[in-house]
Amino acid sequence: MSVHAILKMGDPRLLRQAELVTDFTDPALHTLIADMFDTMQFNNGVGLAAPQIGVNLQIVIFGFKHNSRYPHAEQVPETVLINPVLTPLNRKHEVLDIEDGWEGCLSLPGFRGLVPRSTKLHYEGFDQYRNIINREVEGFHARVVQHECDHLVGVLYPMRMKDLSHFGFADELFPQLNVSND
Ligand code: NI
Repeated sequence: MSVHAILKMGDPRLLRQAELVTDFTDPALHTLIADMFDTMQFNNGVGLAAPQIGVNLQIVIFGFKHNSRYPHAEQVPETVLINPVLTPLNRKHEVLDIEDGWEGCLSLPGFRGLVPRSTKLHYEGFDQYRNIINREVEGFHARVVQHECDHLVGVLYPMRMKDLSHFGFADELFPQLNVSND
């Protein structure tokens, strides 16, 4: 197990469509996921997608009990999600219920942005043992899953923003939180 370098925005490998995982018995898959957890925890992240360490597969991990980078966020169960399919829920009058919230990303160290996301989400996929994951979630959990799965289609959160005046350095935007320079 080891901590990997995280690709930063500008690296073209972050803009690729990731490929489906087809072999769940490959020991390399389990090594990769262990390395992803090491890398996420070393960087104090709440989630990580395989493309962020240069592996172009549809694998994301996320979850935390408490995280200093998001001190007010409710906890999210530790999850491995492979080949995910996301469906936004909560349609009101045929319009998706969208909410702005602050996000950061280990591929954009030091920055935060206000990003619109669906407030309620159904997602399904597999864990690393090919067990089915099938959940309806909302709030920060829904936001994290949308953020991480965007990495699988080559989308970084600034590409989802509508107003770049709400994009900047975390320590300037939130000086009172004393957030780390990640
Ligand atoms: Ni990210």
